Amino acid sequence: MPGLTIGDTVPNIEAETTHGKIKLHDYIGDGWAIIFSHPGDFTPVCTTELGKMAAYAEEFSKRGVKLVGLSCDDVRTHNEWIKDIEAYTPGCKVSYPIIADSNREIMKQLNMVDPDEKDSSGNHLPSRALHIVGPDKKVKLSFLYPSTTGRNMDEVVRALESVQKASKHKVATPANWKPGEAVVISPTVSNEEAKQMFPNGYNTVHLPSNKDYLRFTNV
Ligand code: BEZ
Repeated sequence: MPGLTIGDTVPNIEAETTHGKIKLHDYIGDGWAIIFSHPGDFTPVCTTELGKMAAYAEEFSKRGVKLVGLSCDDVRTHNEWIKDIEAYTPGCKVSYPIIADSNREIMKQLNMVDPDEKDSSGNHLPSRALHIVGPDKKVKLSFLYPSTTGRNMDEVVRALESVQKASKHKVATPANWKPGEAVVISPTVSNEEAKQMFPNGYNTVHLPSNKDYLRFTNV
């Protein structure tokens, strides 16, 4: 059985968190969510990542996104660790909940297990996984990084903006796209439809094939 992937509904898990018990679907509500996992509390890369996520909280909230972290320690340990996270990234406040996955069941349900990382007892640890979940509770995009590679929060915002734009308009974002730049019109949209859908117009790139599939617009 493949694990949770793009297009799947996230399981409606009930979890203990630093903000009390949550049911994932109720927590997500009608908006977007980013669920991100970390190998463990009081580890160096994770400490920098959770601080950066907290520092970017405003960026996510203005895009209608709720954050929820996960690490495989208990709530008491998470709360102790938060003091270190906030001290390391001055001015940040860890205002999002962190799931306590002490028995490591939730990380399996969310497909966040790192097959290569184990603790001293030989139990698997969570990877650096991240799911962007839409208002329909389905996974729209996932990152899967090993424990040795900290994530880039600018890339998380960039990927989120791409997914949100594609959910609103029939567009996609090209390689190395950055928020504010032109997007491409989906190949499922005919030129006639594109004229109606994009009243500001669009530019078709002339290619050797003479096929007019690479069309840029601004939305
Ligand atoms: C870290 O967060 O620094 C880390 C955690 C587990 C393995 C390697 C690095």
